[in-house]
Amino acid sequence: MLEVKNIEAGYGRSKVLYGISFSVPDNGLTAVLGGNGSGKSTTLKALAGLLPPSAGEIWLDGQRLDRVPAHQMAGRGLTFVPQGKEVFAAMSVEENIMMGAYHRRQEKAQIRRDLDEVYALFPRLLVRKKALAGLLSGGERQMLSIGRALLAKPRMLLLDEPSAALSPKVVGEIADIIRSLRTKGLSILLVEQNVSMALELADEIHILREGRVAHSCTNGPDVDLASLKQFYLGGGPALEERTAAVTAVTGSGTGPAHGPMEGAVGT
Ligand SMILES: Nc1ncnc2c1ncn2[C@@H]1O[C@H](COP(=O)(O)OP(=O)(O)OP(=O)(O)O)[C@@H](O)[C@H]1O
Ligand SMILES: [Mg+2]
Repeated sequence: MLEVKNIEAGYGRSKVLYGISFSVPDNGLTAVLGGNGSGKSTTLKALAGLLPPSAGEIWLDGQRLDRVPAHQMAGRGLTFVPQGKEVFAAMSVEENIMMGAYHRRQEKAQIRRDLDEVYALFPRLLVRKKALAGLLSGGERQMLSIGRALLAKPRMLLLDEPSAALSPKVVGEIADIIRSLRTKGLSILLVEQNVSMALELADEIHILREGRVAHSCTNGPDVDLASLKQFYLGGGPALEERTAAVTAVTGSGTGPAHGPMEGAVGT
């Protein structure tokens, strides 16, 4: 279980997170939603050891993590897939995936089995395993980033906006993959702007606004979509447009709560 307790963090003198708390139960999927600049990536960077919090505590399975440096996180069971689908462009797809196993050099046979498991999950990466990663499509790069993270054998996976800038079809594929990772026993923290993806996948949803958790709810058939909309959308010039998009996803209260991906609010 991941427990985030009142963390504060920022860049230099500019504070961005003002006491964030939430948890991800074992084998659970918790989603953190929020608009641009609300502090989602900063939260993940703090959890991944890239930006040590100035206050608060982070615990994973009873181990305190908030003073553990980023390069030791994989060994503690936590792996971060950053926003932006970055890959080592001049290396092959397979070399990129293998980078995820950097801390496991002694376990060659097991790493090979894990690599095969990644290919089973992402057949497209198997087809393109010798291609330069820089030549992959956006969707393939996202799959590669997740595949590389899986080679670290995490118990806790942090995903930063995996659906961003992808077509609805590929977003659907990524959602299926995330769902299947749960059946393999992983716990997942999913950061998204895509409300429908969170509604499809999450057990718990937290909405960040200006570095604070503005609203938290348990997901399910009777999730309070009105509050979700209100807290997620807030105000600002894009409100009308975004309200229309969320309504398209969720229906006006008569249809199923978990709508298709096509109407997703995203970047
Ligand atoms: N490296 C940095 N140095 C200084 N300020 C930063 C840095 N990275 C982010 N910020 C600021 O921190 C705030 C939160 O940014 P963050 O990247 O966490 O937002 P986000 O919720 O992930 O947004 P997005 O959906 O656009 O990715 C913003 O005001 C941003 O300008
Ligand atoms: Mg971000």
